[in-house]
Amino acid sequence: MSVDSHASATNAAPVLTIDGPGGAGKGTISRLIAERLGWHLLDSGCLYRLTALAALRRDLALDDEPAIAAVAASLDVVFRIEGAETAVELEGEIVTREIRTEQVGDSASRVAALPAVRQALLQRQRDFRQAPGLVADGRDMGTVVFTDAPLKIFLTASAEERAKRRHLQLREVGVGASLSSLLNEIQARDARDTQRSVAPLVPADDAIELDTTRLSIPEVVDRLTEWLAQKGLVASR
Ligand code: DC
Repeated sequence: MSVDSHASATNAAPVLTIDGPGGAGKGTISRLIAERLGWHLLDSGCLYRLTALAALRRDLALDDEPAIAAVAASLDVVFRIEGAETAVELEGEIVTREIRTEQVGDSASRVAALPAVRQALLQRQRDFRQAPGLVADGRDMGTVVFTDAPLKIFLTASAEERAKRRHLQLREVGVGASLSSLLNEIQARDARDTQRSVAPLVPADDAIELDTTRLSIPEVVDRLTEWLAQKGLVASR
């Protein structure tokens, strides 16, 4: 099944795509920029996590491509913005925390390798593109979903730094995990995300790569806002 990369309207709302490996800071940075600009936010990883959770709940094998694509195509999801948090409902049940577990993350990475699943989620992602603009966070936002985005960013950080950040995040929510097991999981997920045959994790040719290993969150947000202003997508501050 081919992924249509030309369907996004050329004169639609502007999109800032932020791609990169897990733990590079995409989620936090995307949310802060969307808040600062008053733009919509697409957390595309969340859609893969929800597909994985729905598949797990149906006891589907994670390589049953047609069955999981059918689940993805008919996902019953509601995103409810509650202050800085977005509550996520799947089939009427709040799953905001459950979709962030390592088990769901790992399963998401498996279902994301299935071409029919990616195809089933494509239009749902493009529908987030609405005025005044969209910040799209994921792995293939700039290479597949929004190929005509006027600004594409590829955020990276060393695997060790990403494991440390994840460790801290988990500690904050009271979840214990060893640093070395987190590092192993991150490396395994990176390998699967970069080596899959469909929409592998690679920067778009026209993406700007930014290594955040030694940058603070406000520094990254300021830099991206500056680049948006240089492109004339937002007013200079
Ligand atoms: O960003 P995240 O950890 O929530 O993403 C969960 C999984 O989904 C991750 O293994 C990569 C995959 N994913 C993807 O393949 N394409 C996207 N646009 C977003 C996420």
